[in-house]
Amino acid sequence: MHDMFEANGGSNLVPLLLVYSGKIIGGHEAVPHSRPYMVLLEINMSDGQKKHCGGFLLNEDFVMTAAHCCAKSYTVLLGAHNVNSNSEIQRISVEQAFPHKHFNATSLVNDVMLLKLSTKANFNENVKPIPLAGRDNGTLPKSCILSGWGRTDKNGKYMSPKLMEISVTLIDNKECAIENFYCSQGDTGPAEGDSGGPLVCEDGKAFGVVSSAVTPHSGGSDIYRYSKIPDSRNWIFSTIGNAMIKV
Ligand SMILES: *[C@@H]1O[C@H](CO)[C@@H](O)[C@H](O)[C@H]1NC(C)=O
Ligand SMILES: *[C@@H]1O[C@H](CO)[C@@H](O)[C@H](O)[C@H]1NC(C)=O
Ligand SMILES: *[C@@H]1O[C@H](CO)[C@@H](O)[C@H](O)[C@H]1NC(C)=O
Repeated sequence: MHDMFEANGGSNLVPLLLVYSGKIIGGHEAVPHSRPYMVLLEINMSDGQKKHCGGFLLNEDFVMTAAHCCAKSYTVLLGAHNVNSNSEIQRISVEQAFPHKHFNATSLVNDVMLLKLSTKANFNENVKPIPLAGRDNGTLPKSCILSGWGRTDKNGKYMSPKLMEISVTLIDNKECAIENFYCSQGDTGPAEGDSGGPLVCEDGKAFGVVSSAVTPHSGGSDIYRYSKIPDSRNWIFSTIGNAMIKV
């Protein structure tokens, strides 16, 4: 993460997009298939590079991820735990991508995107959707967990073959709130390749989407930002509704 920060010429904002193929820092392996909504997204950039992001299944037609994972084409992997064992992984291409209409690629505000699958996901024990959190009532959600196949150490280049997870505690931060992010802070958190994965809290609902890391000007450990789902609910439901009508 810090390598990328320097490569970016001193910008203090790093989208958690994986350049090679990389894991959650400080986490542990998830119980296989305990998070059946998890999606591994393989993406093809227009310059021919291949990258990975996380995502999560909303229903049989839609996956949610981060808008900075926007690419030329995508393959969605469902039902995966160890990506090296190809058994029972559903691979589905994406028919259309809907980045948030107010996504700002500089500030990464509204870093959410919906992907409409070209064929319906086949639900089973290992493939199930996750419900979205309701409206924000002003209290930070508790007992939050992240999962992903991103890098597991700050200098590593390769993705984790197995799904990793980590608990995070959300912090009360004014700048985060203004930009519609939930935030956590510390030496452990999401890494490159975890972008787009869900922040799952208290009642097992998706409250956020892994977006980016910021190194505070004042020093201190990195702040990790998650796009707030409660703030995007209207956009999510109208986008899905409109996309289904057009079919
Ligand atoms: C990426 O592009 C290659 C060909 O250029 C194609 O075979 C592959 O399916 C694409 N992968 C994704 C994730 O779309
Ligand atoms: C995007 O964010 C940057 C940095 O915060 C800001 O300067 C710019 O005005 C924003 N763009 C739009 C269209 O809001
Ligand atoms: C907000 O919602 C959470 C559960 O999502 C609940 O624990 C909390 O008491 C609520 N706070 C208020 C002020 O309603």
